[in-house]
Amino acid sequence: MKKNDVVTAPGLMEMKLRGEKISVLTAYDYAWGRLIDEAGIDVALVGDSLGMVVLGYETTLQVTMEDMVRHTAAVARGAKRAMVVADMPFLSYQVDDDAIMNAGRLVVEGGAKAVKLEGGGEVAEIVEKIVNVGIPVWGHIGMTPQSVHQLGGYRMQGKDADNAERIKREALELQEAGACAIVLELIPAQLAKEITASLEIPTIGIGAGPHCDGQVLVTHDVLGLYDRFVPSFAKRYANLWQITLKAFKAYNEDVKRGRFPVK
Ligand code: KIV
Repeated sequence: MKKNDVVTAPGLMEMKLRGEKISVLTAYDYAWGRLIDEAGIDVALVGDSLGMVVLGYETTLQVTMEDMVRHTAAVARGAKRAMVVADMPFLSYQVDDDAIMNAGRLVVEGGAKAVKLEGGGEVAEIVEKIVNVGIPVWGHIGMTPQSVHQLGGYRMQGKDADNAERIKREALELQEAGACAIVLELIPAQLAKEITASLEIPTIGIGAGPHCDGQVLVTHDVLGLYDRFVPSFAKRYANLWQITLKAFKAYNEDVKRGRFPVK
C-alpha cells in the first residue's frame, strides 16, 4: 500500500495476498481521524470502546446508535485516506430490519466505509443481509466485549479444544456470509495462526499474537490515556495522561498566579 493510496475493503484483501500487514487503531473524533491518516495507518476503527475510554461507562453496552453515528462522522471528517470502519453497538444489529437500517446510517450519516459487528454463526445471516445491500462487514470473534456478562469478564477465549473448534467454525461461517475481515480478540496465538491460514479474508488481531494479517489496539491504551486498566497485550507508545496532567497543572498555576494572560 503506497502512502497516499485510499484504503478500501478490496485493498485489504490485496494486502493479505501480498503478505503486507494491516495496521488499525481506534479513533473517536476528528483529531484522531486526521492523525491516523497522517501517520499512514490503514484503518481508523470507530470502536464501541468509545463507551469506556471516551464516555466513561463501565462496559460498551450503553453505547447507542446516536453515539456511533456522531463519532463516526467526526472521524470521517478527519480520515480521508485511512478506511473508516464503524462498530455496530449492542442491540443495533440483532434484529434483521434494524440491522440493515443501522448499518446504512453508519455509512450514509457517519461516512463509514464498513461496519463491524460481534458474533459468529448466530449473526451470519445478518452479515449476509448487510453485505447484500452493498456494505462491507467486519466480523469480531473470540472475546466479544458486548457479551462480557455472558463470558464472565474480559477473558481469553478458545483455550480448550472445543472452544477453539467453535471459534474456527465461526470464522469460516463469517467468511461464508461475506465478511471482508475478521477481528480476533484475546485468543491463543496458535489458534489465531490456524484461523488466519484457513481464511481468504484478513484477520485483525488484538491480544491474539503475531500471526494475524493485521493488528488493532485501542488508541487510549497506546497513548496511556485510559486510567482504569491497560490490557497486558497492549503496547504503550506514549504517556499522554502524564503529559496532559503536567500541562493542565502549569496552566492552572499560571491563571491562579496571574501569569496568564500577560496583557
Ligand atoms: O471497540 C473496539 O475498540 C474494538 C476493538 C478493540 C477491536 O472492537
